[in-house]
Amino acid sequence: MKALILAGGKGTRLRPLTHTMAKQLVPVANKPVLHFVMEQVAAAGIKEVGVIISPETGDKIQASLGNGENWGVTATYIMQDYPAGLAHAVKTAHGFLEDEPFLMFLGDNLIQGGVSELVTQFNQDPSDALILLKEVPNPKAFGVAVVDSQQHVRQLIEKPTNPPSNLALVGIYLFSPLIHKAIERIKPSWRGELEITDAIQELLNMDKMVSARQLNGWWLDTGKKDDILEANRVVLDEYATAQVLGKVDNLSQIVGRVQIGAGTQIINSIIRGPVVIGEQCLIANSFIGPFTAVGSETNLADVNIEHSVILEKCILRGIPRIEDSLIGTGASVLRRNSNHHALRLFLGDDAEVTL
Ligand code: DAU
Repeated sequence: MKALILAGGKGTRLRPLTHTMAKQLVPVANKPVLHFVMEQVAAAGIKEVGVIISPETGDKIQASLGNGENWGVTATYIMQDYPAGLAHAVKTAHGFLEDEPFLMFLGDNLIQGGVSELVTQFNQDPSDALILLKEVPNPKAFGVAVVDSQQHVRQLIEKPTNPPSNLALVGIYLFSPLIHKAIERIKPSWRGELEITDAIQELLNMDKMVSARQLNGWWLDTGKKDDILEANRVVLDEYATAQVLGKVDNLSQIVGRVQIGAGTQIINSIIRGPVVIGEQCLIANSFIGPFTAVGSETNLADVNIEHSVILEKCILRGIPRIEDSLIGTGASVLRRNSNHHALRLFLGDDAEVTL
């Protein structure tokens, strides 16, 4: 079986960060979301992976994944000239997918526990599509499914104004090659996209079998700033381990699960986990609180921060309180006066803020 990972699209909801980077490369606990996706695809035993890329960010996606050997897979890049929808991406990849069953995984989705069981279920009990569903409080924001007591799907609708259920489609699907025929038959939606949800509904219209599986663990769709912070919190909570490769001086205190990368120096600071700090950072006279990820080569002096994601090569100085913030690569935030209010920031790459 092959896999198709979607790493194209525009990422408009994560601007300003996605003016300069692909949304699938935004790090969660210092690892790009797309790398978690590659890990999960590889763990399901899939060796041939097609990656949909866009002209805007395709080179960055390719530089980050390379030929796939880090995960023991072969990565093939497929250019989608315009983000005309998830079904359009499948259409664009038809040559790579050939007429075989495949796993499709949206490159900005993360789930607990991986996809191995889903793939096994599809292989043992073949249908023309197997979708993963999760109960959500805001079904209007997703594709929504109605299922019967045997987990057979009866109806699907993309971003409904009156949701017929609270079961959202998680961005992970298994398809038989019949999906290509269904895609041929659908028209663009009101938002001008060829929707995969409509293509799956078309399978139902063609009297084909669509099965569902409900996801019990967490699911994170990292499309917006708060989603990234939540993903960072959940992933740090689950995966952070205590590992100190850098240097910590005698005046500092490391409490709980804190990961400190090689070449990083911690001076007169308190770090309270779960926290991950990259390589070659300098942290002085600061407090780093739970659920914070600090990218490599970032410098913090006289800063108090928690529940935040700071990307690589940032400089933060003299800030008594930062929380719930997402700060892009190379940004600098320097404070000159002594105003003590908490800052909540969402800064793109190379931003400069002086307070
Ligand atoms: O996250 C789950 C939801 O994903 C589902 O519940 C919806 O049914 C499904 O339509 C999708 O909705 P979104 O509106 O969140 O999809 P988005 O436009 O964010 O695209 C998802 C991923 O696919 C993202 O990594 C970008 C990529 N993409 C998107 C489009 C439209 C492409 O590679 N090509 C495209 O043409």
